[in-house]
Amino acid sequence: MKINNKTYRSIWMENGIIKTIDQLKLPWSFEIAELTNREQVASAIKTMLIRGALTIGAAGSYGLAQFCLSLTAADLDAIAETRELLGTTRPTAYDLIHGLDFVFNAIKGETNLDILKQKATAAAEEYASRSIESCRLIGEYGNKLIKNDSHILTHCNAGAIATIDYGTALAPIRIAHKDEKLVFVFVDETRPRLQGSRLTAWEHREESISFAIIADNASGFYMQHGEIDIVITGADRIARNGDTANKIGTYEKAVLAKENNVPFYIAAPRSTFDSACESGTDIPIEERDEAEVLELNGVRIAPLGAAARNPSFDVTPSRYITGIITEKGVIEPSRDAISSYLDSFKS
Ligand code: MRU
Repeated sequence: MKINNKTYRSIWMENGIIKTIDQLKLPWSFEIAELTNREQVASAIKTMLIRGALTIGAAGSYGLAQFCLSLTAADLDAIAETRELLGTTRPTAYDLIHGLDFVFNAIKGETNLDILKQKATAAAEEYASRSIESCRLIGEYGNKLIKNDSHILTHCNAGAIATIDYGTALAPIRIAHKDEKLVFVFVDETRPRLQGSRLTAWEHREESISFAIIADNASGFYMQHGEIDIVITGADRIARNGDTANKIGTYEKAVLAKENNVPFYIAAPRSTFDSACESGTDIPIEERDEAEVLELNGVRIAPLGAAARNPSFDVTPSRYITGIITEKGVIEPSRDAISSYLDSFKS
């Protein structure tokens, strides 16, 4: 992605230091945070300084590689402990497990410290490159679904900063815009953390893509009035039957889309599919602090003594999903189509 005419990834590692766009500071200021150890990486994921499923996945792989670089002996127990520490920071995003496993499997059984360090770093870099290429391809395939002069609804932020580059849901929009198609994006504000109004709006402004922020409860109105042609969101975990966990509120959009005959697409690569989950009921849903609902940027917006509930994700049953835009094309959200898709990676 280009920011102030400079090309950035959302996260990278330089001389053992993890550098990442500080997503807590956006859109007010653009700052690069530097993380030097596993505790800082874990805390950055928990506080959402690093967020978005694919960026979290890369933080896991770089975090494990960084820990390996700090070792003075090939201590596989300490590496397993770090994998556990980082892997439990955000429970819903499956990419985190995928990223950690990618590095862990590359170094498993390695007893030579220098080789272990080389292998861990190379695996983390390969993970990032593959992830970027998957998003680019999602963009190409998804672009084919976007007609000229389309009005698109998206929820949360599944853009370049939620991935290492390009985005998942926002990649097709970026490419359609580059192809000089007219696109207009309805950006859900996405309470309580405002990933839509803070981050998606910021990304679209940087790319000069036309958009309007809407309140989370306004999309039904626009669908009913024929103003939304297609919905595209990202995903945090997809089960074998196509049920999909994504940011809280996604389920409502999908039900409204079906009611109003608007196609509803999920955009996600292989790293978001969890073959251990048979259906959405197997997907763990993160419940975050009630303060995120009771406060807005530290300012209390509810009476003292009020309680809140704060599930961070919901599951959209596959029957509401028109298709899943992957790096291998658009697939049906069905058990058979997903099995063939997953099998195509084995060889
Ligand atoms: O809690 P967040 O901001 O990490 O949640 C992000 C989302 O729900 C995105 O839609 C999802 O991670 C897809 S991003 C590639």
